Amino acid sequence: MLSAYHLLIVMVSLSTCEVLTSRPRPQELIVMTVATDANHDGYQQFLASVIQHKLTLEPVGVGMEWTGGDIETKPGGGMKINLLKKAVEKYKDRTDLALLITDSYDAIMHGSQSNIIDAFMDLQASVVFSAEVFIWPDASLAVKYPPVRTGESRYLNSGGYMGYADSIYKLLTDHEIADADDDQLYFTNLFIDEYQLQLHGGSMYSESEAPKLSPAEAIDRMSIKLDKRSTIFQTLNGVLDQVDIKYKNSKSYLFNVGTGSRPLVIHGNGPIKHKLNRMVSYLNDAWTPTSGCNACTKNRIDVSDAKELPTLLMTLMIEETTPFLYHWFDRLDALTYPKDKLDVLVHNQHAYHEKLVSDWVEKNKDTYKSMKYVSSAEGLNAAEGKNKALQQCIDEKCEYLLSIDSVAQITKPDLLEHLVSLNKSCITPMMVRPGLLFSTFWAEKNENGYYAQGENYRDHVTYEMMGVWNVPYTSGLQLIKASKLSLLPENPYKVGDMFPPQDYDVAFAYNARKHGLFMHVVNMEHYGHLINPDSYDTSRAAPELHEQFTNKLDWELHYLHEDFYKISVNESYELEQPCTDVFWFPIVNDYYCDDLIHTMETFGKWSGGTNKDERLSGGYENVPTRDIHMNQVGLEDHWIQLLKDYVHPVQLKVFEGYHSTLSAIMNFVVRYRTDEQPSLRPHHDSSTFTVNMALNTKDKDYEGGGVRFIRYNCTLVGLRKGWMLMHPGRLTHYHEGLPTTGGTRYIMVSFVNP
Ligand SMILES: *[C@@H]1O[C@H](CO)[C@@H](O)[C@H](O)[C@H]1NC(C)=O
Ligand SMILES: *[C@@H]1O[C@H](CO)[C@@H](O)[C@H](O)[C@H]1NC(C)=O
Ligand SMILES: *[C@@H]1O[C@H](CO)[C@@H](O)[C@H](O)[C@H]1NC(C)=O
Repeated sequence: MLSAYHLLIVMVSLSTCEVLTSRPRPQELIVMTVATDANHDGYQQFLASVIQHKLTLEPVGVGMEWTGGDIETKPGGGMKINLLKKAVEKYKDRTDLALLITDSYDAIMHGSQSNIIDAFMDLQASVVFSAEVFIWPDASLAVKYPPVRTGESRYLNSGGYMGYADSIYKLLTDHEIADADDDQLYFTNLFIDEYQLQLHGGSMYSESEAPKLSPAEAIDRMSIKLDKRSTIFQTLNGVLDQVDIKYKNSKSYLFNVGTGSRPLVIHGNGPIKHKLNRMVSYLNDAWTPTSGCNACTKNRIDVSDAKELPTLLMTLMIEETTPFLYHWFDRLDALTYPKDKLDVLVHNQHAYHEKLVSDWVEKNKDTYKSMKYVSSAEGLNAAEGKNKALQQCIDEKCEYLLSIDSVAQITKPDLLEHLVSLNKSCITPMMVRPGLLFSTFWAEKNENGYYAQGENYRDHVTYEMMGVWNVPYTSGLQLIKASKLSLLPENPYKVGDMFPPQDYDVAFAYNARKHGLFMHVVNMEHYGHLINPDSYDTSRAAPELHEQFTNKLDWELHYLHEDFYKISVNESYELEQPCTDVFWFPIVNDYYCDDLIHTMETFGKWSGGTNKDERLSGGYENVPTRDIHMNQVGLEDHWIQLLKDYVHPVQLKVFEGYHSTLSAIMNFVVRYRTDEQPSLRPHHDSSTFTVNMALNTKDKDYEGGGVRFIRYNCTLVGLRKGWMLMHPGRLTHYHEGLPTTGGTRYIMVSFVNP
């Protein structure tokens, strides 16, 4: 097809080859973009870059319904041309004006007006199109394109072009196009037709006719050029390994390593929009190694006046059985955000947590602005629970939707104020499983929408890089502006059968990415941590007791004696020494003792108290007690770890230089009672040293009891619950267990050997 535009160009360019290069420098640049939905975060991001570079923007089609097809996956976009045609008409005679037309949902401006015009002048064209390495939508046209060198992009991309206003108008009006036809094909045809014409010396050619000019000569004469070296437009699809973010003097910029250019418009074309968005967390000086996060201080909402804070719909989601849920509630109670500005919706999926959750709801129902409870009896799965909460936000015209999952332990009391102040569409505080790389966000996703390893992830998780980051997935805790929910389809926590209901957050992220709701994660400070619910076994008598390895932080908070750190951290703390070389110190609290007794009594297989003991390798116990070994209830490793983590450091203070590997040890809970075994005859322990911890309280749980160290004639009764006695085992500390005269007395005993 030979269009009117071509004939004009051919006539002009053949009469004087230099005509194109001699066109005067444009005096002015207007950036135009077709954006029907100004609420799209991609558009907002684009707008911010326009403002940063002090460019003039003329958006086209804002508020209109998009009829240009699903251009993500299929040809389409003709509507863009039809809208632009009308918008550009007023400039059709302007030869001093340059127009730069670009997509905006997935692009940013990255240079000033003068930089852009300079680059344009260097290309010596009337119109310059952005180029990319993939051909779309008609691959058969590839052979008609001019060749390019390694590192250059060969094919036309209609997502970005720039030219003199009059030339642009001629291009747009060259021939008719339907809204749903493909705009890229429209321009591609114009480009390759002109190239083929020039190649064949401007004559009407047939396929067989040999070219009269070399490709380079032909290109030189063309009025439309491709920005194959990305001096203006950088399309990212297919060349991500060819571009680098560079930093200089607290500035950041994109550098094309393949062509040596520093592009001025950056386009996340194709399926890699989230990668552009990731880059935008650094580009345009958003973050640099020397200045840190500049974006973090921009557009913040002032939250200093509590009265001015917005009302949040706070949804508390207990979608998995979760250890230490009581801490979670305690920490929610401790939040400083005004409770009369929080509407609460609790969704609990698990009968196991019913009592704790309904108690909390009952206790707090008048504390908050409002309270709704969807209990496990209603049988909603996670995706349904989440969708219900979101729907409530829409129905009740809430300002923000805050969703907190039961694994997100908030330790920063003013976290909610902080998140509001950041003024993002969807913001998640970075929280990490302590010591691990598992967190509330992903830096990358795979093609199925699930986790993939991403650049800089480790730097974020370890706080090497602190700031606000646009990421493809967040979970655990999200604060979403209600005004952005209209971007999403109905029930966004579910996407057909693509994701199972427990992956509601993966489904949400998928929809958010697809529909232009940007997810950010912030790690400017420490906000809390994530609970790991994976090995939580609610069939156990005291399941939290078993969380010592997987959730150490909360385990310590829950079970360690409140005075323990006074002794272990404080160098000058003198351990109590009630008998010679018997040291006494607090280690665990009542929860630990009660849970351990509960565990043992639930297990119930107390030994017979005779010398015959099949649990021992020799089958013989010299000084038998009624006891249960820790390995019988699956707590042996936990107890040894407790000795290593908390007892060993204390032991080193008093028995200096003894470094036990804590390998050969016996660990057991002893039960004394009048109708069973009330006491223990004098004996030596088969240990280097022994720890003996009281699990309950004299005159409350039992009468009598105590221990006597015979050599020192030293008797200890009324031993404090959760405190440990530590003494040498063999030779010096011959001792006896004194009779328990009422109730039941429990002690936890450990023989530590090299
Ligand atoms: C918050 O962000 C929106 C959208 O980016 C912006 O329009 C608004 O000005 C920001 N608010 C403040 C106080 O900067
Ligand atoms: C450390 O222990 C000593 C002795 O018990 C006590 O006087 C001091 O106050 C403790 N210091 C701290 C910081 O707890
Ligand atoms: C042992 O101690 C008790 C009480 O402290 C005392 O009455 C008794 O005389 C002591 N026995 C010896 C042998 O020192």
